[in-house]
Amino acid sequence: MTTTLVLGGTGKTGRRIATQLPHDVRIGSRSGQPPFDWADDTTWAPALAGVDAVYVSYYPDVSFPDAAPRVTAFGRAAADAGVTRLVLLSGRGEPEAEPAEQGVRDAGVEWTILRCSWFMQNFSEHFLLEPVLEGVIALPADGVAEPFLDIDDLADVAVAALTQSGHAGRVYELTGPRLLTFADVAAELSAAIGCEVRYLPVTPEEYAAGAAAAGIPADEIEPLTDLFVRVLDGHNAHLSGDVERVLGHPARDFTNYARAAAAAGAWGTGGGR
Ligand SMILES: NC(=O)c1ccc[n+]([C@@H]2O[C@H](COP(=O)([O-])OP(=O)(O)OC[C@H]3O[C@@H](n4cnc5c(N)ncnc54)[C@H](OP(=O)(O)O)[C@@H]3O)[C@@H](O)[C@H]2O)c1
Repeated sequence: MTTTLVLGGTGKTGRRIATQLPHDVRIGSRSGQPPFDWADDTTWAPALAGVDAVYVSYYPDVSFPDAAPRVTAFGRAAADAGVTRLVLLSGRGEPEAEPAEQGVRDAGVEWTILRCSWFMQNFSEHFLLEPVLEGVIALPADGVAEPFLDIDDLADVAVAALTQSGHAGRVYELTGPRLLTFADVAAELSAAIGCEVRYLPVTPEEYAAGAAAAGIPADEIEPLTDLFVRVLDGHNAHLSGDVERVLGHPARDFTNYARAAAAAGAWGTGGGR
């Protein structure tokens, strides 16, 4: 019997993966049993005991400076515990995430790296939910197009990499099927929700001030603002076919995501605000 440890197993990506895995699953998070905390390495060995494969999603962000030393140490601990396979959630076009990727490559076990574009679900399950509900998405990304990724596709690819052969030593670039600007996204969301959502271009300084006013913890505002400036400069504005190559079907489209999320009540009952 195979046991898979799903780090961030109560989060957006981890919970989708945990529910799909066909064998024993252990949730790796501070609320898991046993608890797993990135900030407390004494929790790692109990969480790794008897585990064969691990889905590694770092919190808060794989490109933040604390990620690489912790992911590297975790990879070593996993190999020492007898884990044979690591699948890392990483960021696409983010050189700052590569030291954490290297930590997984150096662990001495099979590895697969999933470099992901911006998640569509950021608008319905994460930090852009509130702005969508308020009708204004303010980000420093004027005119920049991004190939937004449906994390149901990421979950399917992760499950394949965790359970099938043929994915070891691969770096997959996971994107959606279409480039959209944030103004395009606002139009898609307006149509799906039935209320106007607009995109407001702001400077990085204005974004940081808004994040502080919205109660984002002070120590996260600067790395988050830096992340947007680094990622949303147009260098990721191209598609990859890796979702289709791995899954055998096209990547899920934003229109379908927005309609399904609205119907499920992500932005209020009945699909409206
Ligand atoms: N958002 C995007 O567009 C995007 C794109 C590419 C890559 N990524 C990467 O995605 C990763 C986040 O994955 P996600 O969105 O699935 O996560 P998420 O929804 O933000 O969920 C966070 C998970 O981490 C757990 N957690 C929080 N603090 C923890 C700690 N100190 N130790 C252990 N677990 C902790 C939470 O559970 P508990 O509260 O129970 O601990 C929860 O299960 C980041 O590394 C980010 O860089 C994001």
